Amino acid sequence: MSEPTVIEPGFFEVIGTQRAMRRLKTDPVPESYIKKILWAATRAPSGGNRQGWRWLVVTDPAAKKQIQGWYNELWSKAIASGYGAGAGLPEEERLSNERVMKSATYLAEHMHEAPVLIFACTLTGNGDITAGSSIYPAVQNLMLAARALGLGTALTTVHRGHQDDIRKLLGIPESVETAALIPVGWPKGKFGTGFRKPVQDVTYWEHWGEKRP
Ligand SMILES: Cc1cc2nc3c(=O)[nH]c(=O)nc-3n(C[C@H](O)[C@H](O)[C@H](O)COP(=O)(O)O)c2cc1C
Repeated sequence: MSEPTVIEPGFFEVIGTQRAMRRLKTDPVPESYIKKILWAATRAPSGGNRQGWRWLVVTDPAAKKQIQGWYNELWSKAIASGYGAGAGLPEEERLSNERVMKSATYLAEHMHEAPVLIFACTLTGNGDITAGSSIYPAVQNLMLAARALGLGTALTTVHRGHQDDIRKLLGIPESVETAALIPVGWPKGKFGTGFRKPVQDVTYWEHWGEKRP
């Protein structure tokens, strides 16, 4: 398969338009692209530069279907227990929440259709937050690189409720945590800006509570 021509957007455009893209086409993604986004992931910082990450790339249709079944079961249970109800949120956040829930439900029902699922795994399963959190800058690097190439991704964690089953399915040792499950594929929709609060609303200067316009 010939590789699509990609005109990479500028750095800040990539950051400003990287968001959860959960509606993905089934079209295959060239392996070179997967390797490129994994290269970006592995350029990230990590505590003590330990680089205790492992990336498990899953493309097998039967494995993807099994994972989607577990994911969907957990997502449905979360919804049934009231997760994401969004009651009491200010209007703008309520609308954003509604969109997230709709698209997250779509992903739960269609995850196996994504051509690639990547598990971001961490070798440091000792519960230490510094060591454990080293995976997330790498995950963000991966998602930004994917965006630069025109690929959609979403950081998901719901699968963790079936982590033992996933370990068995994919031969992951018990000591390894699957910190995130990232579907990767060509997006059905367009990249756009997500709802984010303005910097001045979430930043204090010199003293807690002191804002600047
Ligand atoms: C730690 C973390 C866990 C997340 N877990 C899930 C998840 O399990 N399923 C899902 O669909 N999205 C998950 N997300 C994605 C968020 O819902 C998404 O980043 C947020 O709603 C912003 O969406 P936007 O980038 O499209 O604006 C997670 C994000 C983070 C940072």
